Amino acid sequence: MSNTLETLVEVGAPVLEGTDHVELWVGNARQAAYHYRNAFGFDVVAYAGPETGVRDRASYVLQQGKVRLVLTAPLLPEGQVADHVRLHGDGVRAIALRVEDARAAYEAATARGARGVGEPTTVTDENGAITFASVATFGDTVHHFVERNEYSGVHWPGYREDRRAGGGVGLRFIDHTVGNVELGKMDDWVTFYSEVFGFTVFQEFDEHDIATQYSALRSKVARDPRSMITFPINEPAVGVRASQIQEYLDYYRGSGVQHIAVHTDDIVSTVAAMRDRGVEFLTAPRSYYAALGERAEGIDEDLERLENLSVLIDRDDDGYLLQIFTRPVGDRPTLFFEVIQRKGCKGFGKGNFKALFEAIEREQAARGNL
Ligand code: FE2
Repeated sequence: MSNTLETLVEVGAPVLEGTDHVELWVGNARQAAYHYRNAFGFDVVAYAGPETGVRDRASYVLQQGKVRLVLTAPLLPEGQVADHVRLHGDGVRAIALRVEDARAAYEAATARGARGVGEPTTVTDENGAITFASVATFGDTVHHFVERNEYSGVHWPGYREDRRAGGGVGLRFIDHTVGNVELGKMDDWVTFYSEVFGFTVFQEFDEHDIATQYSALRSKVARDPRSMITFPINEPAVGVRASQIQEYLDYYRGSGVQHIAVHTDDIVSTVAAMRDRGVEFLTAPRSYYAALGERAEGIDEDLERLENLSVLIDRDDDGYLLQIFTRPVGDRPTLFFEVIQRKGCKGFGKGNFKALFEAIEREQAARGNL
């Protein structure tokens, strides 16, 4: 962000192709993999650890549709992974972005103001080569640039196949990944994605749109117009009582990924399957459905079925969307998932924020943090 305008003009933004994977650093990767396999339906596809020559950590790779999660835990109390887990609890360490040329992406990003945290490196095995590099984003979160060349292995050199089917619940691809940042920092990070990555900022909410009685947040959405990678950024707004974003920041000890939204083509069957498998979702109050009015007019789904599943509905001029949020996936009130089905609507559920926040705040109050 410190570079001059002249530099920005000279160096084009990194060319991104999509999300390669999201890596979570967790306290116990084996049990986290069990959770995401059994509750979320992911297939376990690869493993790295002492048996594959990695001495200090264990990693499981999970896949469903195009969504790839890497779950990594430390094997020893020392080191970067252990430090991260001690400070933040389980959380997202890296949003890895697929590129055609990792070195060029890294050079472009750093020339345009990103802080490099990993120089371009090529790793190889009998299946080919992967080149990757890393830059910092908010908090301790990083972006990897991943160039897969013609790599034909299951994930990455150092991993072995570990095929255990999870059955799937219809999760297809990541729709967006949301960052929570400190009060007053949202615009800095939106500017970061605009200046470094060439993203456009195309929609925003402020505390007037989404305030509830007790708390509020501000949100802007940064999106890559080419790859459609989308990063909404939230910051707390000053409410009467603690914002849910502030609660996240307190427990995560700083900025980090708040939620990962995954698209499904059939939210009713996906959410029903996830509920059967034990995933816990936020529930919407009955009053939410009673008050839907014209927002629910002309939808293809059975409204009673949506209400029974607590699926939320929002619409804009282009259509509607259906969405639901899980409870936090760990003990700390930090990371959660969203399941989303878009039927034309390009928004993020602005009309649901109030109903959603009231539901979140009931939980926050139960934890004594409101
Ligand atoms: Fe979302």
